[in-house]
Amino acid sequence: MHKALRPVLTAGVLAGLLAGCATTAPAHDGAPTAAAAAITPPGTAIASAHSLATEAGLEMIRRGGNAFDAAVAVSSTLSVVEPISSGLGGGGFFLLHDADSGRDVFIDARETAPASATPEAYLDADGGLDRDRATNGPWSAGIPGLPAALVHLAREYGELPLSTSLAPAIRIAREGFPVYERLERGYARRSAVMERYRGTREVFLADGDPPQVGETLRQPDLARTLELIAAQGFDGFYRGDVGQALIASVAEEGGRWTVDDLAGYEVRLREPIGFDYRGWHVVTAPPPSSGGVALAQMLQILGGWDLAAMEEPDRIHLVVEAMRRAYRDRTIYLGDPDFVDMPLALLTDPAYAAGLRATIHPDRATPSDLLSGQPVPLEDDETTHFSIIDGEGNRVSATQTVNLLYGSGLVAPGTGVLLNNEMDDFALKPGTPNAFGVMGFAANAVEPGKRMLSSMTPTFIESDDKVAILGAPGGSRIITEVLVGILGFDAGLDAQQVAALPRYHHQWLPDVISAEAGALSPSTVKTLEAMGHTVNAGEDTWGNLQAVAWDKRSGELSGGTDPRNPVGEAAVLPESTTNP
Ligand code: GLY
Repeated sequence: MHKALRPVLTAGVLAGLLAGCATTAPAHDGAPTAAAAAITPPGTAIASAHSLATEAGLEMIRRGGNAFDAAVAVSSTLSVVEPISSGLGGGGFFLLHDADSGRDVFIDARETAPASATPEAYLDADGGLDRDRATNGPWSAGIPGLPAALVHLAREYGELPLSTSLAPAIRIAREGFPVYERLERGYARRSAVMERYRGTREVFLADGDPPQVGETLRQPDLARTLELIAAQGFDGFYRGDVGQALIASVAEEGGRWTVDDLAGYEVRLREPIGFDYRGWHVVTAPPPSSGGVALAQMLQILGGWDLAAMEEPDRIHLVVEAMRRAYRDRTIYLGDPDFVDMPLALLTDPAYAAGLRATIHPDRATPSDLLSGQPVPLEDDETTHFSIIDGEGNRVSATQTVNLLYGSGLVAPGTGVLLNNEMDDFALKPGTPNAFGVMGFAANAVEPGKRMLSSMTPTFIESDDKVAILGAPGGSRIITEVLVGILGFDAGLDAQQVAALPRYHHQWLPDVISAEAGALSPSTVKTLEAMGHTVNAGEDTWGNLQAVAWDKRSGELSGGTDPRNPVGEAAVLPESTTNP
């Protein structure tokens, strides 16, 4: 087994790698051929944001399960060990490739608005947006989707019973896991909200103090809830004792969920978005994710240039201009496909991308004010991603979330379930900035039963030579993080190098390039500024990209875990070591 952890690449190292790869990267001139797709990987690779989750997935493979069983184990374990990012009280997107049928499937387990969630419910006495309701406590929570996804995955695609694939999560919830720095730091930021709620105090202040590094966090109620799902499937969460406890807890804190809100929850199966980029076939997330549409636009705009042959400032300028244009469309047009008509065929058409490309000046920034529309809703940077490929060629790319750090902060007493605050991803009051100072639109207005727009972008890319699976957290920066990752694979980087790539981002408004420390060299910043860009370089780091890759020619299987997160793990399990 191989565990990879390497430092974040600096701009200089990256430039060298890209230059070195420019001549050796495969020439891409078409979609992958059937002959290349006929072989299978020599084992399993899993990358996730926590080593306990990666190990839980590998345990399923050793027990004779497939990538989908591993996904149930990884997802449920992340729900236990990363309450800061995702959980049974949240939702997610699962992009699957079923090797038997050759089909790609997108399981939409996004939360839905409860029947009580009208726009008026989120207004204060003066008619303004009630920010506390939007982000904290019962009104901020959508009806969870993750438990339904776990049940669906196991039933439709898995080879092991849920009692087996949920066993690691149950064990870790009951026995506990070591608190790590990000968990402690995130708790400190959200403690004032979390400690409002009885059920939350029972979990996180069980020993009288907030969780601290060096301590063990045990969640026995969450273990019992997982056991009920293992025994009863959907009903174990959405009906019966757990469902009643969720409804009672929301009511106790002043909100309103009904039996029908929970019992009526369904995952949706959606057609993924697919398109070609320089010989890669990209398969990615459709609405209610905005990620796939934006990725299709950006990559199809960029497909008109040979980025690897360019100087860094020119390359960054063009990528930023593609980002600017895609984020504008994302804001205006996208929402829940069950509620909103969207011009998806147009937005993902190569000819549309060519039209956008023609509006890009080779060395002048386009001021965002010249593009009509209004600003983008921003999400916070929690959320988590994992990537899996198994020895049969099954693939999973999954991103799951409770939205902000520790979601709504509300744990339903007796369940261990921490509810999301995904309702803030709706444009709760169109025309009024949300918690992050930006506005939303009618396509993403709140309605009972509707799914809120997301940036989560679980993705596969495949060429004649390679399959790569990737995704990331990071709020509205998820999409550009995945974009930079795909450009890295296209330049010939390996999965670990891709996970470490320095990141930069533009989202139309505010009209600023933000970049991680070291992502852009001082001379690149100077040149970009001379082109008319505003650059905010080096203020922050973001994201937690998890990728796996299979080189179809050499047979090498590899994983990459984001070095910004010391508790993640990418691991490869050779076929010869599995014991079904
Ligand atoms: N809440 C983050 C997202 O769905 O994009």
